[in-house]
Amino acid sequence: MRHLIDFGDMTRAEWDALYARASQIMDDPSAFTDVCHGKVACNLFYEPSTRTNFSFQTAMMRLGGTVFGFADPNSSSVAKGESLKDTIKMVSGYGDVVVMRTPWEGSAKAASLYSHVPVINAGDGGHMHPTQTTADLTTITRLHGGVDGLSIGLCGDLKNGRTVHSLIKAMEKFKNVKFFCIAPRELAIPEYMRVFMREHNIWFTEVTGLEAVIPQLDVLYMTRIQRERFADPEEYERNKGIYVLTRRKLERAKPDMLVLHPLPRVDEIAIDVDDDPRAAYFQQARYGMFARMALLSDLANQPRQEVLDAVEIGTKPVCTNPRCITQTERYLPPLVKRNGSVDCCAFCDAELK
Ligand code: NCD
Repeated sequence: MRHLIDFGDMTRAEWDALYARASQIMDDPSAFTDVCHGKVACNLFYEPSTRTNFSFQTAMMRLGGTVFGFADPNSSSVAKGESLKDTIKMVSGYGDVVVMRTPWEGSAKAASLYSHVPVINAGDGGHMHPTQTTADLTTITRLHGGVDGLSIGLCGDLKNGRTVHSLIKAMEKFKNVKFFCIAPRELAIPEYMRVFMREHNIWFTEVTGLEAVIPQLDVLYMTRIQRERFADPEEYERNKGIYVLTRRKLERAKPDMLVLHPLPRVDEIAIDVDDDPRAAYFQQARYGMFARMALLSDLANQPRQEVLDAVEIGTKPVCTNPRCITQTERYLPPLVKRNGSVDCCAFCDAELK
């Protein structure tokens, strides 16, 4: 693995090795304090973040490396109109690994075309967030013993929730996982995720109610309604507060069901659930730091590579997704990939019409 843009970049063997490394780090962090000695991470956060940015920073510091970057793009040349390509060419000359979060779908993939060093996708709009998945899988494996055969409820904004998309992507590497996708119709999972699950024979069902399915679940993955992704504020108003996990609802759940949430929470998990032994979301955030340590110990130590400029193709973007990075960074090549039998934009996964 050279970059981590999408969970599909990782093989099952690479995931197993990453988890094994994360476990070793958790068991004996002092043995890893020099693994990234002299290495520098560049954290480019174009969107708000608490856990992801801080956990990447602390992960690098705990490995003996250092971090530079921004958490507010207005403090960088982006505010002067610099292209993503130029920013990446610069910072990949300064650092050994680039960690980036943006509101543009496909931006990490775009950055990887121009970066001399590995790029880690820390969230690209409503598309993907594969390192959150490393946190999620680490938590499930550590607390449940494994992932195969689990029934996982995904609840909330499954349309815009990038953590959910990456988690679904990961399950192709495990056996007999079942997904209960719990969302209002307006916020159902995107079509490219359905195509992906059918293509990989992943069992899934789509429902609108949480309470009816809760007794069947081994993991309940709650998510926030992603307010910042709504073009229409009324759509947000219609859907906010739609699911609230309470202690009473948990009474019908299995005694060892894990409640996960990538956080931040708004109101979708009542505060009193925090004291239930099944609530694992704060632990999940800490496990995320160890998973990121394991990831950085590999990627920050990879050799620099020369990159060829991608071909310039004119000004008409091929992808019609208004949130795709190809809409704003017009020099990007019109890369296409196949998702099942469907031709998709290689940056944002949207179907090409
Ligand atoms: C998530 C994100 O940014 O997508 N947060 C995180 O990284 N832990 C989830 C969210 O913002 O709702």
